[in-house]
Amino acid sequence: MIYADNAATTRISDSVFEKMLPFLREQYGNGSSQYSLGVKAKRAIEQARRQVAAAIGADASEITFTSGGSEANSWVIRCVAGTFQNEPMHVITSAIEHRSVLNTCLALERSCVEVTYLPVNTKGLVEAADIKTAIKPYTKLVSIMLANNEIGTVQPIAEIGRLLKSKGILFHTDAVQAVGHIPVDVSRLDVDFLTASAHKFNGAKGTGILYKRSGIDISPLVFGGEQERGLRAGTENVAGIVSAGFAIEESIGAMADESERLSAMIKATVEGIKEKIPSVRINGDSAYRLPGTVNLGFDGVSGESLMHLLDLKGVCVSTSSACTSGKDEPSHVLLALGLSEQQAKSAIRISYGRYNTPDEVGTVISVAYDAYSKILGIR
Ligand SMILES: Cc1ncc(COP(=O)(O)O)c(C=O)c1O
Repeated sequence: MIYADNAATTRISDSVFEKMLPFLREQYGNGSSQYSLGVKAKRAIEQARRQVAAAIGADASEITFTSGGSEANSWVIRCVAGTFQNEPMHVITSAIEHRSVLNTCLALERSCVEVTYLPVNTKGLVEAADIKTAIKPYTKLVSIMLANNEIGTVQPIAEIGRLLKSKGILFHTDAVQAVGHIPVDVSRLDVDFLTASAHKFNGAKGTGILYKRSGIDISPLVFGGEQERGLRAGTENVAGIVSAGFAIEESIGAMADESERLSAMIKATVEGIKEKIPSVRINGDSAYRLPGTVNLGFDGVSGESLMHLLDLKGVCVSTSSACTSGKDEPSHVLLALGLSEQQAKSAIRISYGRYNTPDEVGTVISVAYDAYSKILGIR
């Protein structure tokens, strides 16, 4: 099998798996317990918090662990909005955000919060100038993702951050696809909130990260015990949190080489497919992009059929994000780029990661070409 859907999730790193295993077996203590088994769990959580903080230029006190990126995104948007109850409240986001952001914003609209969904240009980039124009006197929060999960486009977050800082507006970036893959530094980006998820950088599923700049208060999303300094109740997922700490450290250490290696593999894949199918189109930006992700449009054929035929040959790719695939709707991201419904439905996403090797590229190209030809009845 060739797994080329690392934007959906990644295989856990072997060494990270070894580090988390003890916390599922002999070190199974509850981080809130006062005896040594619990204290050891608590220490492991705090070590992971320091590892995550160091990786994104934050202080450990600014990191909270959640059940995933979706929870962290919902939390920021819901609870910042909650802070401004009884006041006019406006949120700006983009049309290409992950569903965990968009659906939270839709829920806010039902409770009378005004939301602007900014358009993107044909490459999927948000223009800082459009944000400036959209700001209202009561704009309290802007949420723009750092890297898009379907097309890999990387947004000008530092530029937007500077603008919003000068206006005193809170800024959240969903960095789930970026952390561990491209350099991320919360100060350089001038963000107040940043969210990430361990399973996107070879950690375990079910552990999310919320960075919240110190001095900013939000209420908990989950109420109960005093875990996570009273911000996020519930017995901690110690093994998952440990995986986040080691996986982020490992990804950052390998980032420069991995970035080069994955970019070269994506370049070779695109060139190889283009050689056989000249009409293939890259959806998204060619310059500002994640190293390992590309979205390709095969006009005239169904992306879903392509994906299934590739699967039959042992190659895993996707048609859109894992959260929306299975629905017979064109991707909201691709429609926002200005593609027609038919064009949007002709796309597949190829995303390489840590465990892909350059010798897989040739197979991906030939299997993609065979599937395309079969659908068109060329051979
Ligand atoms: C950009 C983006 N944000 C948020 C999420 C949600 O993260 P999680 O799967 O940890 O809930 C994903 C996952 O696909 C994503 O790609």
